[in-house]
Amino acid sequence: MGEGFGRGKVILLGEHAVVYGRPALACGIERGVRATAAPAEASRLDVPVWDLSLAPSTDAEEPLARAFDALLDVYGERPRLAVEADVALPAGAGLGCSAALGVAVLAAMDDALGVEREAEERAEVALAWERVFHGNPSGVDTAMASAGGVAVFRRGEPLRRVAPKRPLILAVANSGEASSTKHMVDSVRRQHERNEARIEETFDGIAALVRNGELAVAAGDVIALGQLMDLNHGLLSSLLLSTTKLEALCETARAAGAKGAKLTGAGGGGCMIALCEDRESAGGVCAALEEIADEAFIAEVGT
Ligand code: MEV
Repeated sequence: MGEGFGRGKVILLGEHAVVYGRPALACGIERGVRATAAPAEASRLDVPVWDLSLAPSTDAEEPLARAFDALLDVYGERPRLAVEADVALPAGAGLGCSAALGVAVLAAMDDALGVEREAEERAEVALAWERVFHGNPSGVDTAMASAGGVAVFRRGEPLRRVAPKRPLILAVANSGEASSTKHMVDSVRRQHERNEARIEETFDGIAALVRNGELAVAAGDVIALGQLMDLNHGLLSSLLLSTTKLEALCETARAAGAKGAKLTGAGGGGCMIALCEDRESAGGVCAALEEIADEAFIAEVGT
């Protein structure tokens, strides 16, 4: 039997701009998706937490079946495998659930078939899965689902790892508002078509935050990184990606002692992240967030 794991991810700085060739600073988190794969008469994908059991299909109305089909196609000879996935991430919440699922399924199938791939190649191949869910993924989600750690991702370039001087302690809160990455990426594309110069300027501003963020992570400067996250949240809001609930979560986190807070992922709902000084203060921030969030938890990255 083959086994595979795909991590969830949080984008510290740079979502959306990364679709347009700017860098993003992101990290893989411990929560993710575990999958197993075993030879079978016919291929199937089971996701018990979603009460789902499906066969591969090219039906446009069944994205998950189509994504599974796309992954089976990456092998020279189409394998027949029964795959089961244990998903420990909220879907549609900006934590890279679909990429983690794709990477876990691919890794389990590779393992069952004795196919070896480096993390970077696995992330690239798993894009066949991601493209089914949104037409123009930058690749940051599959890259972090596959590699973990903290890194700067830029489309078409090798992932550049960043070694944090001290672990990053994040309070992650789910607004409970479902968000569609495809929808939000389309919304930014329409704004870009209407007013290219202004949106390009915003992306350049975000790229500058990422460059400074990388230095702050390497120096262990929590105050600077927090300020950069606040500024990034402001620029994402100017792209109409925030919601009243996400604003309330960010405000609550800052008032409870977080050094910075922002939406993470596609926005329009989903999760926010708040940077905390240490685990103790993150506990306090999580407790405050739990009052208004669907769920809040601590993610520690870079240990
Ligand atoms: C989604 O997690 C991040 C986006 O930048 C889309 C992408 O990079 O493909 C919104």
